[in-house]
Amino acid sequence: METQVGIVGAGPAGLVLSHLLHLAGIDSVVLEQRSRSYVESRIRAGVLEQGSTDLLIETGVGARMLAEGAVHEGVNLQFDGQRHRIDLARLTGRRITVYGQQEVVKDLIAARLAAGGTIVFEADDVTPRGIDGAHPTIAFRHEGSERELSCDVVAGCDGFHGVCRGLIPDGVLTEFAREYPFAWLGVLAQVAPSTDELIYAFHARGFALHSLRSPEISRLYLQVDPADDIANWPDDRIWEELQLRLASPGWALDEGSIVEKAITAMRSYVCEPMQHGHLYLAGDAAHIVPPTGAKGMNLAIADVTVLARALSDWFGGGDHGGLDAYSERCLRRVWRVQDFSNTMTELMHVLPRGDPFASRVQLARQRYVATSAAMQHTIAENYVGLPLA
Ligand code: FAD
Ligand code: DHB
Repeated sequence: METQVGIVGAGPAGLVLSHLLHLAGIDSVVLEQRSRSYVESRIRAGVLEQGSTDLLIETGVGARMLAEGAVHEGVNLQFDGQRHRIDLARLTGRRITVYGQQEVVKDLIAARLAAGGTIVFEADDVTPRGIDGAHPTIAFRHEGSERELSCDVVAGCDGFHGVCRGLIPDGVLTEFAREYPFAWLGVLAQVAPSTDELIYAFHARGFALHSLRSPEISRLYLQVDPADDIANWPDDRIWEELQLRLASPGWALDEGSIVEKAITAMRSYVCEPMQHGHLYLAGDAAHIVPPTGAKGMNLAIADVTVLARALSDWFGGGDHGGLDAYSERCLRRVWRVQDFSNTMTELMHVLPRGDPFASRVQLARQRYVATSAAMQHTIAENYVGLPLA
């Protein structure tokens, strides 16, 4: 097999990249270790920045999102039962769209296949080679036979646990990481959302988030201990905890049957640079943010927008400038988003005992968010997303 860009991973990063390259007349092949049904049903993010939705619409893959996604003009931050609405539309002129990541993935897979694109699902032992030379290859196994893909460039879009980041030599790669002393227990429930807009709630028992997926499906999260086991969380305990943490005067949370639940650890991570030789990393393969800022999928889309443009300049006219500057351009946005995600995380989660100073600073910040137009503007500007580079 031969192509111009060999893409490892069919998550948002790999699929958007393949789609943008196709529109620029550049051939790509996507190698994905999981099955199509697995990637189409993996429940994860739900919030799209306006820059992400604009891109999907402008490039012809936004029809179902426009029909089924929900455009939100505000979000609520709640401290001790008091809700503070951040009016995103008034403060920034921009909006967010709530539309499940797996729906974005389904739409992109359908578009790639309809355009004759190649996505190899269930590709095992994907092994890029020769990224330092002019002719990289990607070896893999598919349906029992050994295969090889020759390409000009390898795009590592294989998520945090992928193989591509490990190809950057030790002396070249610098890693920045922070672990958090909490995790999120996420649930999908068959019940009409009890709110029109997201509620991020700080409570003495821990953080809780009420999000949505459709008029019939709610998405909810609870702060839990990272060492906790989902087996400790029968459905009635989850609802009891959500009721306590989300409670607000004059408001009620409706309960329904829980159809999915899982615990996800939280971390911040960045690797620098995001490129080496003919390998370019994008999305979670290069960086992870804690989910409180709703940024991971958006950052993945932002990376590949920069990468697609740089590849187009190179394949189109031999201009390597965009590719040389790829990592630096992405990392500016990545670190802005790291700061925002970290700020939101530390603002909204109950911090470990034993640091009373940090807890008092957190309380002062919460009061400032609740009362300062300037602080609300800052949150809004970051939450809706800065313009794509
Ligand atoms: P991934 O989606 O991880 O895709 C990588 C793909 O590569 C996968 O399909 C994987 O199977 C494949 N792969 C891995 N290794 C290999 C290999 N060796 N060979 C071949 N294929 C391989 N982000 C937001 O923007 N907003 C949110 O509201 C939000 N909420 C979240 C809530 C939760 C609970 C979680 C867990 C995440 C959330 N995120 C959110 C983050 C978001 O889901 C990720 O940032 C996003 O999936 C990144 O996309 P990606 O394409 O880079 O990586
Ligand atoms: C969702 C996930 C997030 O991480 C977030 O900050 C807001 C909403 C969601 O899955 O809907």
